[in-house]
Amino acid sequence: MVAAGIQLLALLLACAVSTAETGQSFNLKMWRKEDQPVQQQFSQVNEEIERLKYYQAVMKQKQEDMNQAIMHCAQMQAPRDEEVNVTTLQEGSNTLPYPFSHEDKDPEEDNDGVLDPCYHYSVLDQPWRATNFSTKNVACDQKVQWKGWYRLFYRGKTIQMPERCVKMEMCGTHAPLWLVGGHPRIRDGIVTRKVCGHWNRNCCAFKSPPIQVKACKGNFYVYKFVKPQACHLAYCADINTLVCGRCKKDEICNSRDKINWFCKKSKRRVKAKVHFFASYPGSLQGKVNRIQFSKVYVNVGGAFNSRTGVFTAPVTGVYQFFFSTQSATNGAKTDLWLVINGYWVALSHTRVSSPNSLGNLSTYMTSLRKGALVYVTHNCGYSWANSVSNTITFGGSLLLVQR
Ligand SMILES: *[C@@H]1O[C@H](CO)[C@@H](O)[C@H](O)[C@H]1NC(C)=O
Ligand SMILES: *[C@@H]1O[C@H](CO)[C@@H](O)[C@H](O)[C@H]1NC(C)=O
Ligand SMILES: *[C@@H]1O[C@H](CO)[C@@H](O)[C@H](O)[C@H]1NC(C)=O
Repeated sequence: MVAAGIQLLALLLACAVSTAETGQSFNLKMWRKEDQPVQQQFSQVNEEIERLKYYQAVMKQKQEDMNQAIMHCAQMQAPRDEEVNVTTLQEGSNTLPYPFSHEDKDPEEDNDGVLDPCYHYSVLDQPWRATNFSTKNVACDQKVQWKGWYRLFYRGKTIQMPERCVKMEMCGTHAPLWLVGGHPRIRDGIVTRKVCGHWNRNCCAFKSPPIQVKACKGNFYVYKFVKPQACHLAYCADINTLVCGRCKKDEICNSRDKINWFCKKSKRRVKAKVHFFASYPGSLQGKVNRIQFSKVYVNVGGAFNSRTGVFTAPVTGVYQFFFSTQSATNGAKTDLWLVINGYWVALSHTRVSSPNSLGNLSTYMTSLRKGALVYVTHNCGYSWANSVSNTITFGGSLLLVQR
């Protein structure tokens, strides 16, 4: 107990020293045990022990309250994610009890068996972490045995860390910890972000160890919290971001000043998957205005019409096409043209001089506006194919979406 008291003194001292370093006016002299008579040292230690006992009692009460809140929370959230397993940490440890996340099926578990933190996190629902909460009973996240990933809640509602400097003495601590550099997008995956503690008009007086953050489907984030470097620092929950938990599926949460948050329709990215490949299963002779490639092997995006043989660009972007034939007419030329919006843009030409057959494949790449029409015309000659030869073909892909 005495040892614990001294340890706490040391912690308090560490905090006081860093306070002094940041240039605040109260002048702190480094306190050394030898500077004081033994009796005084003991009385100080005893005082600390008393304070610790009180602190312990308060924490115990908080722990019980939180257990109830957690049970309540677990029941509330259970239906969506199936099973929620709540584990309390062993008694006697100085950590706060957090429920452990559910064992539900993880659709994104990768091959190494690494679990997606979006489905495997602990719930951290402590209203005192809110940016509008201050208390004399300050918390210290350095004393928490952080383990794995956490999702922040405020009374059962999703909340995020602040992306801005938070006033001192808020978030139930002395120096509130905020996220530097903002939250990631879903496509960013897991990112590492700096964490700063505000003290004495210096928004980053405490450069806390960086944490990992991930954006999850459903407008929430998970954080891999670690011990901050000193007491009393605590991770904040920005009360202004409560609105973000109410954003709809097709919305994202946005803020220009990082103070006022609002839901906003996200710019839907066009599903840019367009691929087709078709063939004409017979022979063609002379002029055929538009080859009706009726045998369709691939038509991802459904932009190719097998009845008309016309491909219609579904989005503006860069496309690549190919078309082919095989000719066997002695001495005569055979020409296939790729036609875009009525313009003949590319030729596949064959001329067979001796009794033989010849194949020709042409490709063409271009930018097209949405709605552009593309087909192949058989201008002259003789093209040979049967139902399985795939010698008269037409295909293409969207390579890139442009705006
Ligand atoms: C919760 O998890 C623990 C440890 O993984 C397991 O022993 C216990 O049976 C689980 N409880 C429930 C209700 O699933
Ligand atoms: C903090 O904000 C929440 C949500 O607006 C509110 O319910 C709560 O009463 C506020 N707490 C304090 C201490 O102002
Ligand atoms: C294929 O067509 C191209 C373009 O019309 C032509 O230049 C080339 O000679 C043809 N290849 C053969 C083998 O006929």
